[in-house]
Amino acid sequence: MDVKALLSAHPAWLDHLESVGGFEVVLPGGGLADELLRLTVPHEDVNAILAARPEPGTPQWWLTERCAHSLVSTMGAMEDPPPFQPLPELGPYFYVYVFLAALPHTRAHHRSLGIPEEVSWATFTDLGRNMAVHRKRFGTAGLHVPYWFMLHARGILYELGRLQFNLATLGRTTGETLRAAGLPLGPGSPSLAVHVPGFHGPLTPEACDASFERARRFFPRHFPGHFPGSDRRVMTCGSWLLDEQLARYLPADSNILAFQRRFHPLHRFDDGDVLSFVFGGDATADPAALPRRTRLERAIADHLTAGGTWYGRRGWLPF
Ligand SMILES: CC(C)(COP(=O)(O)OP(=O)(O)OC[C@H]1O[C@@H](n2cnc3c(N)ncnc32)[C@H](O)[C@@H]1OP(=O)(O)O)[C@@H](O)C(=O)NCCC(=O)NCCS
Repeated sequence: MDVKALLSAHPAWLDHLESVGGFEVVLPGGGLADELLRLTVPHEDVNAILAARPEPGTPQWWLTERCAHSLVSTMGAMEDPPPFQPLPELGPYFYVYVFLAALPHTRAHHRSLGIPEEVSWATFTDLGRNMAVHRKRFGTAGLHVPYWFMLHARGILYELGRLQFNLATLGRTTGETLRAAGLPLGPGSPSLAVHVPGFHGPLTPEACDASFERARRFFPRHFPGHFPGSDRRVMTCGSWLLDEQLARYLPADSNILAFQRRFHPLHRFDDGDVLSFVFGGDATADPAALPRRTRLERAIADHLTAGGTWYGRRGWLPF
């Protein structure tokens, strides 16, 4: 297989991978099945992953080395390397091995920052979770959006209880809006981004309170350089969960609306991807045919059937 031809649609990425060069990849040996289970890889994928182990000297190995090196050489850096692209031609588990190759380096980075083991492993479980998300969305094995776990593998994102947080900087629109609102912030100011993983139970206010409280202690302690001033910290979230139209359908005490109320609303964006997050499968399905098992499902389907549109919205809160 000619992997460079495969990557020809992504020239900037290929340039980056060629420039970072090779790297000594050491994959776990006999304990690999246990390691996969620690990463919450779904049981039905474990044997297939073991069987897909890449061999040194193959074109796939060349790319595994360079992708792993891309992660390790940008460990902790706020500037993202080019995102990993889906490469189904290399099988559903190609990126699982890339991340396994990077994992000892990520763990060493975490240790150097004093991050507790328990936080490291909670964070890494998102690998298995995103394999479950892939199956929910497409019905097949694979790692959903392989660029997402790059944040975890590079030591930028952490799971602290119910929520995940990553070191971030404010984008242009958010930064300018917050500056116009009188905050001493602007585009490029340090911030945290908040994420709500699925497959982790309800989003109860108590679980969120605990996560936000952990984040308030965790980031200044382990990343003191990220927030130079103590009076100018914000977190942002961009999600379908913040679409204010949900308030027309869900009861005021729903967890989603309680989460929404924590944030000051910012701009709306078009693709909140709500259908995929809620229903999985075919995001273009006829709304009249969507299942209506829960209040959220009924809300999403009824709104679309009536000709409405769902959006994503960004919000911020002081930190
Ligand atoms: C975020 C999440 C945990 C919220 O679930 P929750 O805590 O149950 O939320 P609420 O209390 O507001 O739920 C209100 C209603 O919507 C339903 N609901 C919530 N999320 C649902 C989902 N993803 N699919 C189907 N129904 C859902 C609930 O069951 C409830 O309906 P019911 O009273 O008929 O049972 C859940 O939507 C989820 O896991 N989403 C996937 C991850 C995600 O979308 N993250 C954001 C990415 S940008």
